[in-house]
Amino acid sequence: MTSAGHGPDTAAPDPIQDYLDDLHFRIGRMSGGTVASYIPELAKADPMQCGIAIATVDGKVYAAGDARTPFTIQSVSKPFLYGYALERYGREAVLQRVGVEPTGEAFNSIVLDEVHNRPFNPMVNAGAIAVAETVRGHTLGERIDTLLALFGRFAGRPLAIDEAVFESEKATGHRNRAIAYMMLNSGMIRAAPEDILDVYFRQCAIEVTAVDLAVMGAALANNGVNPLTGERALAAEFIPDVLSVMNSCGMYNYAGQWSYDVGIPAKSGVAGSIMAVIPGQLGIAVFSPPIDGHGNSVRGVAACRDIAATFGLHVF
Ligand code: DON
Repeated sequence: MTSAGHGPDTAAPDPIQDYLDDLHFRIGRMSGGTVASYIPELAKADPMQCGIAIATVDGKVYAAGDARTPFTIQSVSKPFLYGYALERYGREAVLQRVGVEPTGEAFNSIVLDEVHNRPFNPMVNAGAIAVAETVRGHTLGERIDTLLALFGRFAGRPLAIDEAVFESEKATGHRNRAIAYMMLNSGMIRAAPEDILDVYFRQCAIEVTAVDLAVMGAALANNGVNPLTGERALAAEFIPDVLSVMNSCGMYNYAGQWSYDVGIPAKSGVAGSIMAVIPGQLGIAVFSPPIDGHGNSVRGVAACRDIAATFGLHVF
């Protein structure tokens, strides 16, 4: 058990903390899934790691297991940058570059919506790469500063990039390179693909913990305001856009089943994390590296199912 840090006094009995400790005990022993290895540096992760965190919109944080162990955010970065792009350029301009339709395909599929010639949605790699072009900055250094400032506002603390994971993906991410060049060909991106990928690979390599992701989810649940710092991270008017796309596309080609069973907007990342958001209530994060064939953390899916069922969180 890990002490809650920011929140309630864990010395006093707390039913939510007791439940999380129990859940961690049960989920931490589950088998199944494999640690992602297509980004070579990710293959070094310990498959037994398992951390769970919950953050409420009134600023309480609960944590169990490896909830303060750093890992790279990977695709869980995508909803935050989608919100950023909407805030910077507005819905109409962003919709020209990326749609809001689920793909039914893998997260790294090399396919565009043929009617509009654009990526299907901002949660798959193609859409996220198109969105990465919107990050403000004249130089790469300025764009990295923009990224870290944005994610730092959501997390409520300064974040950094895991350079080894970034270099590892930059050296091997040829599939994303192919997607970027295909979008250059179709006019969906205009800047040099390598420049956009330098931002995209870095956004994926930002180091967070499960507690960070729970707080970031709680900021989305709290209409864009970080519940620990009181700082606004995203304009409230774009929260429904972000959460509805997370709901329909966040878990990739498992999103339909997820929405049916769990009924909570969520986003997964290949380092083994899932962040889920209950609007108006809380952010949930689970980190455990082994992932299934969809790219979703096996223990993360099980933990979220348990939390949603136990607290009756299915939003429909
Ligand atoms: O672009 C990639 O393939 C990775 N940087 C992120 C993919 C990812 O996290 C998919 N999620 N489950």
